[in-house]
Amino acid sequence: MGCHLESTKAAFPIERVEKSRLTGIDFAKLPFGSVFSDHMLCAEYRDEHWEEPCIVPYGPLEIPPSISALHYGQAIFEGFKAHRLANERIALFRPRDNFARFNRSAERLAMPQIPESLFLDGIAELVRLDREWVPRTEGAGLYIRPIYFATDEALVVRPAKSYRLVVFTCPVGPYFAEPLRLLVEEHFVRAFPGGTGFTKASGNYAGSLLASRLAQEQGFHNVVWLDGQTRTLIEESGVMNIFFVIDGEAITPPLSGTILPGVVRDSVITLLREMDVTVNERSIGIEELVSAHKDKSLSEAFGVGTAATVAPIEMIRYRTHDIQLPAKTQALAERVREKLVAIRTGRQPDVHGWLMPV
Ligand code: COI
Repeated sequence: MGCHLESTKAAFPIERVEKSRLTGIDFAKLPFGSVFSDHMLCAEYRDEHWEEPCIVPYGPLEIPPSISALHYGQAIFEGFKAHRLANERIALFRPRDNFARFNRSAERLAMPQIPESLFLDGIAELVRLDREWVPRTEGAGLYIRPIYFATDEALVVRPAKSYRLVVFTCPVGPYFAEPLRLLVEEHFVRAFPGGTGFTKASGNYAGSLLASRLAQEQGFHNVVWLDGQTRTLIEESGVMNIFFVIDGEAITPPLSGTILPGVVRDSVITLLREMDVTVNERSIGIEELVSAHKDKSLSEAFGVGTAATVAPIEMIRYRTHDIQLPAKTQALAERVREKLVAIRTGRQPDVHGWLMPV
C-alpha cells in the first residue's frame, strides 16, 4: 500500500482527514458498528518484516481479487473498546489481552506475529487522533476493530508471505436492545476439538451465520451452541460467552479449545469472585439446564462479550422445553455489568490494571 504522508510529531506518519465526518451524529441511537470514525491505522508485512505503520483517513482498501484471504480465509479480527473517563481522559479496556489473543489467533492461522508496539502504540495514536469520537453517553464506547489478513496474489494454498493489518474504530452503544431469546442449536456446530474455535478467525463467524439466520427466522435473537462431538454440552451463545446462575453459583463452560477465551468473560469471572459469588468453570449439559429450570435452582442466564458487555437472556428453547428467565430476576447480571462499566469508565478504582490511558 505505502504511505505518502506529511511528517508529524507521532512515531509514524499520519495523514489527517480534511474535514471530520463527526457532525450531527446521535451517539445514543447508533446501530452497532454502522458509523466509522475519521481515521484508520494500516501496516503491511512483507519480505519477512513489518513495515512502518501509518494512519490515514478511513476509507476503501484497494484489494486485488486474487488475494489469498478472499479465497482461503486466512483472516482474523479483534474487538475491544475505549471509554471516556469522568475526568475526560480516555482509556482502552484490557488492550494487552486482546493483543495476546490476536497473536494466538495469528499463530493458529499460520500468520506472522504482530509486534506489541505496532499494535498498542498504533492504536493509542489512532484513538488519540479520533478522541472526539469516543461517546460520552452512559454504556457507550469507541469500539476498536483490528483486522489482519493475507494479501498474497496467489492461488496456491499455503500460508501467505504478505499481510495487511488495518485498525478502524466506531462509536457504539449496547449491541442488544432487549433481553435475549435463544434457540439451542443441535444440527450445526460452531467449533470442534483441534479446530479454530478458540480464535477470532473470520471464518468462525461465517460458519455460524446460517444457524443464526434460521433461529432469527423463528423469532430468536441467536442460538446456544453445543459441543461438536456429543451435542450435549453448552459452549457459547451466539457471538458471546455464556453464564448461568444455579443455586446462587455462577457457572460458565471451561476454555477447552472450542470456546473463545473472552476478555469480558475473564473480567466477569474476576468481578463475580470479588463480589463473593462462587464461579465454577465447568461443563454444563443442556439436560442439566432443563432440570435446574424445572427445580427452580436456575435463576439467571447471561451472555458476555466486548460488543454486548453483559446481556441478560430471558428465554432458551431446547426441543419442547422453554426455559423462561424473566429479565427482572437477572440481579447478578445487572450487578456485575454495573461494576464492569464503573471500572471501564473510571468510576471505580482500576485495581487490576485493566485500563490503558491513551
Ligand atoms: C465482540 O464482542 O467484540 C465480538 O467480537 C462479537 C462481534 C462479532 C460483534
